[in-house]
Amino acid sequence: MRGLNLLLVARRQTLLEELAGELATRHGITARPLALDLTREDAIGPLLAALDALDIGLLVNNAGAPSYHGHFSERPWHEVEATLAFNTRLQLRLIHHLLPALLHRGRGGVIQVSSITGHTPVPYMAEYAACKAYQLALGESLHFELRDQGVDMLVLSPGATRSERVSFGMEPDDVAGEALAALGRRPSLLPGRGNRWRAFRYRHLNSRRRALWRMGRFQRGRLRPPRG
Ligand SMILES: NC(=O)c1ccc[n+]([C@@H]2O[C@H](COP(=O)([O-])OP(=O)(O)OC[C@H]3O[C@@H](n4cnc5c(N)ncnc54)[C@H](OP(=O)(O)O)[C@@H]3O)[C@@H](O)[C@H]2O)c1
Repeated sequence: MRGLNLLLVARRQTLLEELAGELATRHGITARPLALDLTREDAIGPLLAALDALDIGLLVNNAGAPSYHGHFSERPWHEVEATLAFNTRLQLRLIHHLLPALLHRGRGGVIQVSSITGHTPVPYMAEYAACKAYQLALGESLHFELRDQGVDMLVLSPGATRSERVSFGMEPDDVAGEALAALGRRPSLLPGRGNRWRAFRYRHLNSRRRALWRMGRFQRGRLRPPRG
């Protein structure tokens, strides 16, 4: 997996350019930055054009709508709709667009970043978790469809992982390392033993109803008290 050239997509141009330069110097690869807001409908045209101009071997569907914690009934519709569009339609479109080229070449891969929240219903993160469950089911199904055609599909379901938004959890390098090692070997991966145990406990040591109740009570306890 080392030595791959990269097309990096995110919104902040300066940061993206710095990262591309750093990766190119450190690994002797070509890294191209493409600053786009993927939630904008007019971003998809330039993105697909950039993909068509390159020989893409591995798609990592990582960027997604931010998670939240609160009552679904208080979520403004534009946020609900944006989560759904980003975490399902946009990512699905990228996979669908790139697959013909990967299949034609008979080689390549897709890493779909889902979440541990996709493995069980999560009250107070309802539509975020539902989108993650969609990504999980989609990716696992595609893994089976594509496995004899040379295209590796992996669903990566991280638990808490340090990022700009999250200040605790696994190191992103460890999560990425486990994902790359699992690509081509299995349909999906929960990185970290603690996360695997938590997901196993919720999915298999509880009935689905009991898991829902336990998760609901846990998440309700994390809600902020009402203001005032
Ligand atoms: N961190 C966790 O604990 C955790 C746990 C489970 C699952 N996940 C999943 O892992 C993935 C990454 O999470 P993260 O915590 O690393 O998220 P993040 O810090 O919010 O963003 C990850 C990357 O996506 C880019 N991005 C975000 N919104 C974008 C947009 N509208 N258009 C283009 N690029 C965008 C960001 O750059 P810019 O801001 O410059 O655009 C950044 O490079 C997500 O799919 C998330 O659901 C994370």
